Amino acid sequence: MQSADPRWSDVDGYIVEHLIGEDPALDACLAANAAAGLPPIDVSITQGRMLELLARANKAENILEIGTLGGYSAICLARGLGDSGKLVTLELESGYAAVARKNIENAGLGDKVDIFVGEAVATLRGLVEQGQTLFDLVFVDADKQNYAAYLDYALKLSRPGTMLIFDNVVREGRVLDPSSDDPKVPGTRKLYEMLKNHPQLDATAIQTVGAKKWDGFLIAVVREE
Ligand code: SAH
Ligand code: DHB
Ligand code: MG
Repeated sequence: MQSADPRWSDVDGYIVEHLIGEDPALDACLAANAAAGLPPIDVSITQGRMLELLARANKAENILEIGTLGGYSAICLARGLGDSGKLVTLELESGYAAVARKNIENAGLGDKVDIFVGEAVATLRGLVEQGQTLFDLVFVDADKQNYAAYLDYALKLSRPGTMLIFDNVVREGRVLDPSSDDPKVPGTRKLYEMLKNHPQLDATAIQTVGAKKWDGFLIAVVREE
């Protein structure tokens, strides 16, 4: 695969200048993440704005995120919540969660976001057992190896009309290669297999280029009965 075309980032810059503008809270989040040594694998600012707008368009009051990192996408999603809305976000690393908590508070969203630390599958099992309120929107962005399990749990925690969004479903085209040496590919391919003729979900995936190179989002909506 050729390296990323520099125009992809240039166009992201043009988009940000015209459609998004300055965002001190998100800039501060990235600076704090870098200072704490978190990997720079957050969604981009244009992708984050898309998540915010999807939350708002879906009138989301309850959002689930799997994979918090430093809280960049959590801030974006929480901005799209209604006034009394809540975001639940799941993170394996307690150190990352501590950075995220500060970033989310700094963005003025501390009262809207709960971070649960631990293996997401275990936390999700607990949410199902406790009878967690069903989510209006789910964003899945943690370990790709578990995407199949995350789909199962997301469905258990969804209602008809809930939107599920999965990040990193293209991976510079590696998704096409069943013998890829990228360990994240098999889990992603399993997700596509599960969604083929799925009885409850209508889905698509959109390829993206930009600051995050060539990748994509898979979007599925739970069918109305
Ligand atoms: N959504 C974030 C980026 C998430 S990166 C953003 O855009 O800002 C993926 C995150 O998933 C990492 O922080 C990683 O620690 C977390 N993760 C990986 N495996 C996990 C697991 N089994 N359970 C919960 N979180 C996990
Ligand atoms: C990686 C993970 C992500 O969620 C992402 O958006 C980009 C890269 C990674 O683990 O390499
Ligand atoms: Mg991602």
